[in-house]
Amino acid sequence: MNNKKEKSILMIVTYGLIICFVMLFTITGCGHKEEDDNNKNDEVIINSNNKSAVIYFSATGTTKKIAQRIAEKSGSDIIEIIPKEKYKSEDLNYNSDCRANREQNDSSSRPEIENTFDINEYDTIFLGYPIWWGTIPKIILTLLDNYDFNNKTIIPFCTSGSTGISGSVNDLRNYNSNLIIKDGKRFSSSDSDETIVNFINENIKITNNSSERVDSVKAIIDDQEFIINLENNETVKGLINMLPQELNMNELNGNEKYVYLDNKLPTLPYNPKRINAGDVMLYGNNCLVIFYKSFDTSYSYTKIGHIDNLPDLGSGTISVKINKNL
Ligand SMILES: Cc1cc2nc3c(=O)[nH]c(=O)nc-3n(C[C@H](O)[C@H](O)[C@H](O)COP(=O)(O)O)c2cc1C
Repeated sequence: MNNKKEKSILMIVTYGLIICFVMLFTITGCGHKEEDDNNKNDEVIINSNNKSAVIYFSATGTTKKIAQRIAEKSGSDIIEIIPKEKYKSEDLNYNSDCRANREQNDSSSRPEIENTFDINEYDTIFLGYPIWWGTIPKIILTLLDNYDFNNKTIIPFCTSGSTGISGSVNDLRNYNSNLIIKDGKRFSSSDSDETIVNFINENIKITNNSSERVDSVKAIIDDQEFIINLENNETVKGLINMLPQELNMNELNGNEKYVYLDNKLPTLPYNPKRINAGDVMLYGNNCLVIFYKSFDTSYSYTKIGHIDNLPDLGSGTISVKINKNL
């Protein structure tokens, strides 16, 4: 009987503590919301010479999954920050005097990073982390100490129990006020692909080098001239910036020619249900496909454009020159 009573009291105290923690996390996040919006309207301009990377730390895999989706949809490289001393579950038990709590409470703590990487080639960095006690885990400061992020645009993203991202972004800006750091976004595991794509598009604007919309380009396929009528999307803008291209496209399935491009492009894939002869599509983030037969499909692509009156392209490899000037 007494044992039962003690258990109930223990449960009430535990739940009470959990509610307090959640409230504390929420308040910490909201408290920073209205501060410093300086970088809000900065626009990241990506052109053929710009490259982006997703750099992330994830202790239990939640941020990792979002990082992978952002990398895939934005055509970015992906780099994981691997701690020298891995975080075991007891290190993350924030209701105790765990390692993560001790690090967060110690302003001089800079947990070592095991791997090294080259960030010189990147102009845009999606920086991902879990929220720890309202802010960035200290290993992110190790990253900022060890690498030069000057002149790069940092787009933060995080996952958390409930806390928003703004407190951590303010802390990043205060840590190094020379850096260009956008407002970023908190994600939860259930966020849709559309949310991910909107986040990328809000933060990265791909502009044509000429800034004019290009609605068609010339394709010379084995010396015969065709026009590709283009869609108006970020994928096409990225492709335009890569022109001119001379490609050898391989045969597949008696209905398509494909080639893997050197650069990855942003994607907005959907299942078109039916492919029409002449459709030009992107499969994944860098496989350019020209279909020369119509058929039903269960695969997803991002549409690039369409070539009217495209003949059967035959069984072998074809040479394709794509040129911006009509
Ligand atoms: C030490 C520690 C502190 C945390 N602090 C917060 C917090 O302040 N607010 C919050 O909403 N979640 C907090 N969380 C929960 C994590 O942010 C959340 O579980 C996150 O999605 C984990 O990401 P990961 O799997 O990539 O490591 C904390 C977790 C740990 C381990």
